Amino acid sequence: MKALILVGGFGTRLRPLTFSCPKPCVEFANKPIVCHQIEALVKAGVTEVILAINYQPETMRESIERYCEEYGVSIVCSQETSPMGTAGPLALARELLTKDNPEGCFFVLNSDVICEYPFEEMYEFHKSHGKEGTIVVFPVDDPSKYGVVVSNEQKEVVSFVEKPKKFISNKINAGIYLLSNSVLDRIPLKPTSIERETFPLMAEDGQLCSLTLKSFWMDIGQPRDFLTGMELYLESLAQKSPESLNKGEGYLGNVLVDPSAEIEEGCLIGPNVTIAANCKVAAGTRIANSCILEGTTIAGNSWINGSIIGWKNKVGRWVRIESLSVLGEDVHVKDEVCLNGIIVLPHKEIKESELVQGKIVL
Ligand code: GTP
Repeated sequence: MKALILVGGFGTRLRPLTFSCPKPCVEFANKPIVCHQIEALVKAGVTEVILAINYQPETMRESIERYCEEYGVSIVCSQETSPMGTAGPLALARELLTKDNPEGCFFVLNSDVICEYPFEEMYEFHKSHGKEGTIVVFPVDDPSKYGVVVSNEQKEVVSFVEKPKKFISNKINAGIYLLSNSVLDRIPLKPTSIERETFPLMAEDGQLCSLTLKSFWMDIGQPRDFLTGMELYLESLAQKSPESLNKGEGYLGNVLVDPSAEIEEGCLIGPNVTIAANCKVAAGTRIANSCILEGTTIAGNSWINGSIIGWKNKVGRWVRIESLSVLGEDVHVKDEVCLNGIIVLPHKEIKESELVQGKIVL
């Protein structure tokens, strides 16, 4: 079975992290976002994953190679010379998708959706309804910022509207599809949107069916949603494999610390925290609702809440970082500084407190 993952977006809403690497390579719960998807695809029987790449193919390869060896999956890159949108990359990868494909269908994923991927259930459902496409949908309270899907009782999609102004349904496009090879005949080899061009026509022809996701779901393409997705993911881990979380003195709620990270005594970490490889957290530090990326050092008695601390940061003593601050790669924060909802670009040294939420330190 084959799968194509759309990894070519610029990830502008996840800056400053995406200044350092493409969004699919940003670590979510201590491994690249896209590796969560590849791992689940492999479990469902996928043997070849096509990455639809638009920029930085080498960075992408380097950061996921180790995982792909571990999962024993073949990774093929389909490289665009200019952005092809969310459907165009399928036309470009036509040969790769259809060659040696006895199932006659393939999975397609947006690279930034996190959930308990229902690939096996999708496959069974796709075979049972016999239409050209299966789309996973997820119910949300506020569907207005998403692609909204209206289906009939037979689960056939009757309309597909991007960011509707009026309420038409609470089910949104979860960015996970299973498509028959024939869908490729509907996609021209040029920049094309699957949401705005391909799916509305498939719905009109009665060729798209929806499957409602039963697990949590989050598009983690922006910092607030990244942290919310992390909380949901950690809760799901707590239910499914509690042994993978850190427990005991110094930990509170759901916490995931890479075994190579060093946490000194007298810290309190959690709830909803991930700490990546080679981080060092000195005594007396308090971290909650935050993601600490690889190689970061936090000196003693600091307080970090609701924030993302990028790779190889150096955070001083008695520092306070909170309210959705996002620090890019290699940021140095001096002792006693307070950052309140601040975005810091890579390679900056912060010597003074910044308290006006939303400020970007260039
Ligand atoms: P923002 O810049 O923050 O909007 O992020 P994004 O560029 O990733 O856009 P968006 O989240 O809407 O993209 C949805 C999915 O399509 C993501 O998995 C992107 O990587 C992917 N994608 C968007 N545009 C392209 C493209 O031109 N080529 C390829 N291969 N993938 C794309």
